[in-house]
Amino acid sequence: MNVITLASRKGGAGKSTLTAHLAAAAYASGQRCLLIDADPQGSLSLWHSMRPGGEPQVRTAARGVDGILATAMLDGYDWVFIDTPPTMWVVVTEAIRAATLVVIPARPGLFDVAAVRDTVKTARERNKPYAVVINAAPAKRDDKESPVVAEARALLGELGIPVWAGQITQRTGFAISLAAGSSATEMGSETPAGSEIAALWSAVTRSVAAVNAANAAVGVPVAPARAA
Ligand SMILES: Nc1ncnc2c1ncn2[C@@H]1O[C@H](COP(=O)(O)OP(=O)(O)OP(=O)(O)O)[C@@H](O)[C@H]1O
Ligand SMILES: [Mg+2]
Repeated sequence: MNVITLASRKGGAGKSTLTAHLAAAAYASGQRCLLIDADPQGSLSLWHSMRPGGEPQVRTAARGVDGILATAMLDGYDWVFIDTPPTMWVVVTEAIRAATLVVIPARPGLFDVAAVRDTVKTARERNKPYAVVINAAPAKRDDKESPVVAEARALLGELGIPVWAGQITQRTGFAISLAAGSSATEMGSETPAGSEIAALWSAVTRSVAAVNAANAAVGVPVAPARAA
């Protein structure tokens, strides 16, 4: 079972938005997915309450994530996506400790980039693979990313922080689809929002495969994937 924890101390970075879109992409690709809403703000639960059919299912984590994850493992889930609050509360460190991969959304701006450091520190202390995803970026022009995104990459690079090569652009489609209980994937993978989420989901699956292979090579026990 793979656990993707979306974390950032910075409010409004895009944790809940990317959790919902990534989980919907995973679910649409036939994976057994579970959502954990570890944020009392309840954004993910609100989105889930508007979804016809109620999939992927959501659990709230008022008492932490470990018990939910243990049950999810027994239930045979392939992927668990955890949305966390913009704090460094115990539930966040617990979710980072349980992660296969920590995804840290950051808007491209000095303050936003600086704010990823706490989350990075926590991931590093727990030896957890992590990567920053630049979210709500200005649209590319002629396939060239905006100077503010290039600047953010440079700053993160100086700090030795891995950054996803792609970007999630500031698009009304991301917010509008969630407000309708839908997702970028369900709007169509040919839409600009849908194709960005498809690219991010593909990068996440590749990173997780690499993490699991590395763990297996050094003898770290990895939960077997459920047979398809
Ligand atoms: N790529 C995007 N394009 C357009 N709007 C976005 C994008 N990402 C996030 N938003 C909007 O920005 C706001 C904050 O996003 P979101 O709630 O996902 O952040 P968060 O990190 O979960 O915030 P919090 O720390 O408060 O939990 C929301 O209104 C959301 O719709
Ligand atoms: Mg949130």
